[in-house]
Amino acid sequence: MRIAVLTGGGDAAGLNAAIRSVGRHALRGGDEVVGVLNGWAGLLGDGDTRPLDDAALLGVLRQGGTLLGSSRTNPLRIDDGIAQVEAAMAAHRIDALVAIGGDDTLSVAARLAERGAHVVGIPKTVDFDLAVTEYCIGFDSAVAIVAESLERLHTTAASHHRVLVCEVMGRDTGWLAVMGGIAGGADLCLIPEFPLHLEEIVARIAARDAQGTTSSIIVVAEGAQIAGLTAEAGGPADAFGHQNLARRALGERLADAIESATGHESRATVLGHVQRGGSPVATDRIWPSRLGMAAVDAIRADTTAVAAAVVANAEQLVPLGDLVAEQKRVPASIYQVFEALS
Ligand code: F6P
Repeated sequence: MRIAVLTGGGDAAGLNAAIRSVGRHALRGGDEVVGVLNGWAGLLGDGDTRPLDDAALLGVLRQGGTLLGSSRTNPLRIDDGIAQVEAAMAAHRIDALVAIGGDDTLSVAARLAERGAHVVGIPKTVDFDLAVTEYCIGFDSAVAIVAESLERLHTTAASHHRVLVCEVMGRDTGWLAVMGGIAGGADLCLIPEFPLHLEEIVARIAARDAQGTTSSIIVVAEGAQIAGLTAEAGGPADAFGHQNLARRALGERLADAIESATGHESRATVLGHVQRGGSPVATDRIWPSRLGMAAVDAIRADTTAVAAAVVANAEQLVPLGDLVAEQKRVPASIYQVFEALS
């Protein structure tokens, strides 16, 4: 069998571990493996693939990013896009495809599978907002970066008696902010799921000032809504219709507003793509290794339209559509852990 593997959407630490697992497991079982370059873009037109042999997979486990490249190309938004993908799969003699990605990539994979292609997904997103699965490639590594950054901000905030606002990724959900905030000991966490009014934020900082706390760390998700605060417009939308939220400059606007309302010197730091870069932490090597093998096993068992996900702390095949049916949002139980301990 000829198995292809593709990575779509934003890159994340741990993608190479998954590619290596799919590749090695397939090769060792006697299958042929090709990598699709640059996400769905590599299956449009003539298609763009490269063979993956043992040499291509050597030494990639600990490397960040994706050796296949990625893109936010959306075949569903292109005339005949899905037909082009099917034609490129046929032209490149692809019998089955492992699509590694978040809601956008997996939605395309689900559509392809509906039309008869042999497709298995693997969940990946630093936003951690896919339903059903307890694990998404890249999230743990990104949380570690947020936590370490907050820790570093603590010492400079304390030295200068400042309020430091740290803006992190999280388009529609606040997973990175709340988990990073718990691990890094932030003082205030602003996420889409539990909006706070600017007046409440200012009151909380003023209360800390009144208690003699001279510095504070606020972690804010880029997609948070703060009533009473005017942010910039987002940047232009991508092919999946998502705006570039970093352009809202939410962290910067919030730091300005806090400084003018409280008189407390404030600064903003935007972590941005630093959160997605660099080597994966151990869990972002172990789970991708397990899920890559599970995806190949599913293909060999002739199972399609599923994702190799983590459920009850074990590999499990779940319908592709279930992962993207709804967004997993931060529940009150987790937000309360942050609130209770900050
Ligand atoms: O992939 C999701 C994400 O990491 C979001 O949290 C963020 O808004 C977006 O990607 C940034 O995308 P880009 O890499 O296209 O700037």
